[in-house]
Amino acid sequence: MSERFRIAIDGPSGAGKSTVAKLVASRLGIEYIDTGAMYRAIGLKMLRLGLEMEENDELQKMLDETDVDFEKERIYLDGEDVSDLIRTQEISKAASDCSAFRIVREKLVELQRAMGDRKSIIMDGRDIGTVVLKDSKQKFYLTATAEERAMRRYLELREKGTSEGYEQVLEDVIKRDYNDSHRDVSPLRQAEDAVLIDSTNMTIDEVVNFIIDSVTSQ
Ligand code: DC
Repeated sequence: MSERFRIAIDGPSGAGKSTVAKLVASRLGIEYIDTGAMYRAIGLKMLRLGLEMEENDELQKMLDETDVDFEKERIYLDGEDVSDLIRTQEISKAASDCSAFRIVREKLVELQRAMGDRKSIIMDGRDIGTVVLKDSKQKFYLTATAEERAMRRYLELREKGTSEGYEQVLEDVIKRDYNDSHRDVSPLRQAEDAVLIDSTNMTIDEVVNFIIDSVTSQ
């Protein structure tokens, strides 16, 4: 493929970013990079090591010694496949907390930019269009109402056998939206040149087709 893709998808949690990004990646034959998983991996390591949830020298030392990488859409933390371990509510909270730390973001943004320099990619997250792939022309902001996003997550968790109630999931979604969009460093926001997609009443296929049509007609 001679065409080079550097596609950014940002938006709040539960908007369908990763589902959509994976499908776009497979249709275009490019790599999908789940940047949220990278923050989750750091959150997991902080919990495992019993580190305080604060920005300090100990955290910097841990970051200096930490390796996060992808291989066939699986995420590796220091060589260990942690893809399944990072999908709990506890890790969601740790990821949201540690993503507010400047030193964590510096480390992960550097890794993400290096991944984007090497090959055609689609990346999803919160700061891809505003920071990581700022100069890309292929930016999308995918959102849906908090109720719709909570319902999708609730059904997903129920499928996995977790017993969280809808109200609890909705509360977590609202809290996380607040955290992600009110932190000082790279808060979640739509890049000025990103195309807004409200998926509340759209099917996954409709969103995927819309993105592919946009990037291939540029
Ligand atoms: O997309 P996710 O739910 O897996 O993301 C986990 C947390 O990481 C979420 O609270 C927001 C944060 N995050 C971020 O700050 N920047 C990114 N590029 C991706 C995720």
